[in-house]
Order: sequence, then structure tokens, then C-alpha cells
Amino acid sequence: MTMRKTIIAGNWKMYKTIPEAIELSSGLKRELFKLEAQNVDVVLCPPFTSLRDVYEAISDSGIQLGAQDIYWQPQGAFTGEVSAPMLKDAGCKFVIIGHSERRQFFAETNEAVNKKLKAALEYGLTPIVCVGETLSEREAGGTFKVLEDHVLNGLKDLNAQQVLGVVIAYEPVWAIGTGKTATAQQAQEAQKYIRDLLAKMYNKETAQNIRIQYGGSVKPENIREILKEPDVDGALVGGASLTVEAFVAIIKGASEVNK
Ligand code: PGA
Repeated sequence: MTMRKTIIAGNWKMYKTIPEAIELSSGLKRELFKLEAQNVDVVLCPPFTSLRDVYEAISDSGIQLGAQDIYWQPQGAFTGEVSAPMLKDAGCKFVIIGHSERRQFFAETNEAVNKKLKAALEYGLTPIVCVGETLSEREAGGTFKVLEDHVLNGLKDLNAQQVLGVVIAYEPVWAIGTGKTATAQQAQEAQKYIRDLLAKMYNKETAQNIRIQYGGSVKPENIREILKEPDVDGALVGGASLTVEAFVAIIKGASEVNK
């Protein structure tokens, strides 16, 4: 019996216009109301442009709002960036940090992840910090080394109290958007490694209370199997979070897994 509440987050990436975002989020609100999955935290992470409209569409539901990125300065001459107070202002409670697409395509480093993380925590946002190896790193036997690097440097200087406010998402890069899900055993092995590392960095009790999601081709068909693993506390869902039907089916599946 774990004390960690399951958390299912939808990462919409660069999809959905404002009308589409309103349609998806109001559809989710309607269906999830019927489902009554109170044992699952549900978070939607739309693009910046539809944050506010989604916030309004999900009002009075248990669904929570998150952003997909953040900049670490509160304000200033940083063209194109969005700060923690701005995300709070838009109604966000969560923010994804260090997604592999940002690391790959926008040269995001662990140092940047760490600064973003601290800014999010300072303003009371819950960061969802993404870590995970590429296919070549896995094939070269480097999975744990990469996870160690991402976790140690990403969470650098955070104390035990602060780290309790962080969600970690283990997302093997080779499983993202490829239809190639990690096996439940692969997810468990990596996530247990992360939890053991957190126990060394902080202490066992703290590590036991940090939620670790799995991400990478999560679908209604595989959510139950993955979530049954003891160190998998939820999912970060890309493609399958873009339709009401698939995302509700994932949440339903998650709500039925008892640990
Ligand atoms: P996917 O994306 O579910 O489409 O594989 C997951 C993610 O990138 O967070």
C-alpha cells in the first residue's frame, strides 16, 4: 500500500488551437465527472496559448492545469519566454521541465533544468521533471549513468522538503512517440533505480514519498500493466492525451489499479 497518489498528466506538446483545446478539455471534464476517479490526480498541459481557456473550461472539476516549460527569471527582457508568476497567473499548478524534446531540439541542459526547477518551486508550482536515456545510451549500457546524471544535476541543491514538491517522469527517449513502450519491467527497473538514488541523496522516507511517472507511448491498452509496478506512480502521456476517448480510458485504467 503506497501513500503516493497516482498522477496522470497529458502533455499536449505543440497541438491544439484554442477552440480545439476548449473542446478537448470540456469533453474531459464531462467524462471524468461521470468516472469519479478520485484516486487519480489528472493534469492537462496545453500549449501556452490555450492555458487560460483550458483553465476556464476545467473550472469546478478536479482537473488541474500545467504548462510545458518555464523560464527561471520572474520577468525581464527575455523575448519569447514565460515565467513562473505568469504561469501561476494563468492558473497553472504544474509545469513540465526538461522534457527530452526540449533537451534534444532546444539544447536544454541539466543546469537549465535545475534553474527552472528552483524557479517553479519558489513560486509554488509543482515541477514534473523529465529524465531518461536515448536508444544508443541504453544499447551502450548507459541507462543508469544517464539517469544518475539527470537526477543528480537536475535536482542539485534541493533539500528534502523541496524535493517532496517535485514529480519525476521517467521517459526513455526511444519510447516517446514511437509506439514502442518500455516493458513494465524496464520501467520498474529504471524507476526503482531513481528511487534508490533519491534515498541516497535524501533519505528513505523522502524517496518513498516522491511520485515517479512513466512516460513513452502510454495507451489505454498498457496503462494497467505499467502502473501495477511498485515504483510507477503515474504516467506522462503525449499522443494518447489528445483525444477524450483515449485519455479518459487511461485515467479509468489507472483508477482501477490497486496497489
Ligand atoms: P507519447 O509522449 O505518449 O506520445 O510517447 C510522451 C511524452 O513525450 O511525454
